[in-house]
Amino acid sequence: MHIGAFVDSKCIGILSLFETNTDELPETKHYQLRGMAVDLDYRGKGIGKQLVNFSEHELKTLEIPVLWCNARISAKDFYSKLGFKVISKEFMIPDVGPHYKMSKSLT
Ligand SMILES: CC(C)(COP(=O)(O)OP(=O)(O)OC[C@H]1O[C@@H](n2cnc3c(N)ncnc32)[C@H](O)[C@@H]1OP(=O)(O)O)[C@@H](O)C(=O)NCCC(=O)NCCS
Repeated sequence: MHIGAFVDSKCIGILSLFETNTDELPETKHYQLRGMAVDLDYRGKGIGKQLVNFSEHELKTLEIPVLWCNARISAKDFYSKLGFKVISKEFMIPDVGPHYKMSKSLT
């Protein structure tokens, strides 16, 4: 699922949702949030929060119990504010940098 935020017809924020499992989570059906980004000119205005909230609503209608992501260290507190919890040790994604796995229960 690909979700966008638009001002007039211009896309200014995106994220994607994939049905992908991760070893840290016991539930059998969970989704991964990937490709989260908001246009520099529109950051800090609640767009990212709206994109995640909208995603959670869509996943709840599909009865998906958990949403997780690989959070860059620079975005960790953004996800924490939205209710995500750290579920892994810090790890490195080559060419991108250090990350944590984070997840949020949708039930
Ligand atoms: C991370 C990102 C998606 C946040 O989007 P945004 O639209 O600026 O975020 P919002 O305005 O919706 O912020 C929601 C809350 O999180 C906070 N927040 C946003 N980015 C934050 C950050 N990097 N660190 C800590 N808090 C952050 C905001 O202050 C706001 O707090 P509040 O509700 O108390 O006012 C955006 O900064 C971005 O695109 N960054 C570059 C790409 C990236 O790092 N993506 C994530 C990869 S894992």
